[in-house]
Amino acid sequence: MKRTTWSNKEAVLGVTGSIAAYKACELASRLTELGVKVTPVLTESAAQLVGPASFEGITGQRAVTGMFEPLQNPEIEHIAVATRADLFLIAPATANVLAKAAHGMANDWLSTTLLATRAPILFAPAMNTNMYTHPATQANIATLRARGCHFVGPDNGRLACKTVGPGRLIDPGIILETALILMHSKKDLAGKRVLITSGGTHEPMDPVRYIGNRSSGKMGRALAFEALLRGASVSVVSGPCEAEMPHGADVIHAETAREMAVAVAEQLPSADVFVAAAAVADYRPAELSAGKRKRTGEAISITLEENPDILAGAGSQRRDGQVIVGFAAETSDAVAEGRRKLERKGAQILVANRVGAAGSGFGAEQLEAWLLDDSGRADELGRVRKDTVAQMVFDAVAERLP
Ligand code: PMT
Repeated sequence: MKRTTWSNKEAVLGVTGSIAAYKACELASRLTELGVKVTPVLTESAAQLVGPASFEGITGQRAVTGMFEPLQNPEIEHIAVATRADLFLIAPATANVLAKAAHGMANDWLSTTLLATRAPILFAPAMNTNMYTHPATQANIATLRARGCHFVGPDNGRLACKTVGPGRLIDPGIILETALILMHSKKDLAGKRVLITSGGTHEPMDPVRYIGNRSSGKMGRALAFEALLRGASVSVVSGPCEAEMPHGADVIHAETAREMAVAVAEQLPSADVFVAAAAVADYRPAELSAGKRKRTGEAISITLEENPDILAGAGSQRRDGQVIVGFAAETSDAVAEGRRKLERKGAQILVANRVGAAGSGFGAEQLEAWLLDDSGRADELGRVRKDTVAQMVFDAVAERLP
C-alpha cells in the first residue's frame, strides 16, 4: 500500500514584513513534518519581526535573507531554487510584495525568484484593512489572479492595528491544506464532482433530546481532502459532528436523515462519484413531542419509524459511469455483512470496518477495514489511518471512472 509522500516535494516559503510573520513558523514546521523540503526566504522587514534562526531550526535549511549574502550556497542560488521548487508560498504576503509581483519588480531575492519560477504561486495576504481594500492592492491581486497566481484568505477579524475587517492572515491549517493541494501531482479526479456524506445524524425526540451516534466526521473529512488533493470538486453533506471540512469543499449541513436525504437528492444528479461515509440513523422517533418530555417515574417506550436509506436510493438510480461507494460499520462479521450491504444497496465499492475496539472506528484516527467491490474483491487493509483508507477508496474509484 503506497501512501502519499511529500518527501519528494520542495517549497519556497516567502515570509514578508507583516506582524503575522511569526505564524509562518507554524507553516514551516508543519510542512517540514510532512517531509516537504522548505527553503525559508525572509524579506528585510520580515527578518526584523522573526529571526531567520527560528526558520533554520524548524526546517533544517538555511534561511535566505538577502540577495548577496556572503558564502552563498549554490543550493539556494535563486534560479536553481526557482526551477526546482514545486510551490512558492508567500505567507504572510504584504501589500508591498503583491505590488512588486504584480509589476514584475525584482529588487530582492524573493521578488527576483518569483519572476524566475514557473511553479504555482500561493499568496496568503495579511495587512491592514484599508491597505487590503485599497483599489491599488485589489488591482494588483486581480492582475496576479489573471496570471494564474493563487490566493488563500485573508480572514475577517481583529487586526494588530486594532481595526476589525478583512486583512487577517487566514488560519495556517487552511494555508497548509491549500499548499498541499497545489503541490499534489496526481490529479486523476480533475473535472470530476465528488459528493460525500459525513458525520452522524440527530433524530429529535423533543426540543432538547435526540437519538444520535458517535460519528466524528473524521472519515468524511479524510475523503473530502483526498478528493480535493486529486483535483475533484467536492461537496459534503455533513451531519452534526466535530470535524471541520477542508477549505475548498462545499459543505451542506443536515441534521436528520431526512434532511440528509433531501440534500443528497439535490446533489446526486451532477455527481460523478458518491461516497456514503455517514452513520445515518436507520430509525427516528415517530412522534416529536412539542414540549420537553417529563420524567414519569415509570419506563417509557418510544415508537421508531424507518428513515429513508440514502445509499440504497442512490444505488437504485445510479446512472452509467457514476461510481457509488458505501461504508459498513460492523461489530462482527464485517466482510460478510459488508458484502450483503454492498449488494443490497447497489454500491460498486464498499469499505467494511470493524467498530467497537479501542483506537479504531468512530472518533478514532484509524479504521480496521476491508475494501470490497462488486467484482468480488475483498482486500484486507488492516488497521490503517483514515487518510490511507480515503486514498485506497479513490484509487479504486479512479479505476472505474470513464
Ligand atoms: O465519522 P468517524 O468518527 O470518522 O467514523 C467513521 C465511520 C465509522 C462512521 C465510517 O467509517 C462508517 O463506517 N460509516 C458508515 C456507518 C454505518 O453506520 O453504516 P451502516 O452499516 O449503518 O450503513 C451502510 C451504508 O448505508 C453506509 O454507507 C451509510 O452511510 C448508508 N446509509 C445507512 C442508513 C441510511 N438510512 N442511509 C444510508 O445512506
